[in-house]
Amino acid sequence: MPNTTDLYSQAQAAADYVRSQSTIRPTLGVILGSGLGNFASQVEDATAITYADIPNFPLSTVAGHSGKLVLGTIAGVQVAVMQGRVHAYEGYPLAQVTFPTRVLGLLGCTTLIVTNAAGGIRSDIPQGSLVAISDHINLTGTNAALGPNEPRFALHSGFGERFFDMSTAYSADFRKIAISEALKQGFTLPEGVYLAVLGPSFETPAEIRAFRTLGADLVGMSTVHEVIVARHMGMQVLGISLVTNMAAGITAAGKQEAETIHHEDVMEIGRRVEKQFTTLLTAVIPKLRPSLS
Ligand code: HPA
Repeated sequence: MPNTTDLYSQAQAAADYVRSQSTIRPTLGVILGSGLGNFASQVEDATAITYADIPNFPLSTVAGHSGKLVLGTIAGVQVAVMQGRVHAYEGYPLAQVTFPTRVLGLLGCTTLIVTNAAGGIRSDIPQGSLVAISDHINLTGTNAALGPNEPRFALHSGFGERFFDMSTAYSADFRKIAISEALKQGFTLPEGVYLAVLGPSFETPAEIRAFRTLGADLVGMSTVHEVIVARHMGMQVLGISLVTNMAAGITAAGKQEAETIHHEDVMEIGRRVEKQFTTLLTAVIPKLRPSLS
């Protein structure tokens, strides 16, 4: 079991190091998922810090997760962009998986944008779609807030509690902003429930049928633990998924047969949707103003 006093001082040490590398004081953090890492090139006046140089930061082992924290501005907002994350399926304890989120909070990020690659469970949300996450179902069988509570992680009063609310985990206001910016750019941003599994195996068709019955629209192997920690601290969250493939056994509308799933497809779809994703996020970022909820 991690000692939370240590975790807090380790996160402070990481945040101190990051502050020593840049004059940027970010109020908004972005975590980029598989295939979406190129968004970091949008950051102006950028300082890129390799994860390996940040004390206590976990290092990703997955292809397509480059492992840099990029500080700078986007549309005038001071941001910290994580190019790459670590996952529980790599064998990391959740305290490490969520360590960078804790550091973003300590750096002053009261807004968090989490992004991911996901399998699509609804055939009317095809491969290549961006989706605003409306809620999540944590089926990983574990929880990032497990272990002793550390109230010093709270960014505002009313947060950092042992038991904390998850009924507004994904800000409805932020989602509305993203949906309306997408419409301005000429596309529809559907909302969906993200269900997290541990991975690394993709799901069986029977699992996906079960998940659909449970109310899931998307399936993936990340995000929920970062969002749990973000809500513990009192960050306000926007979640965006990119449907990189139809989930196991799901056929896209108009197709006869479901296809097998490959990690390379995840990366390829990321490249195809990069421009739309980048334009959307760049338009949304200056509009996100957290209220204390
Ligand atoms: N399942 C789980 N995680 C994923 C998938 C999937 O189909 N696609 C991208 N990440």
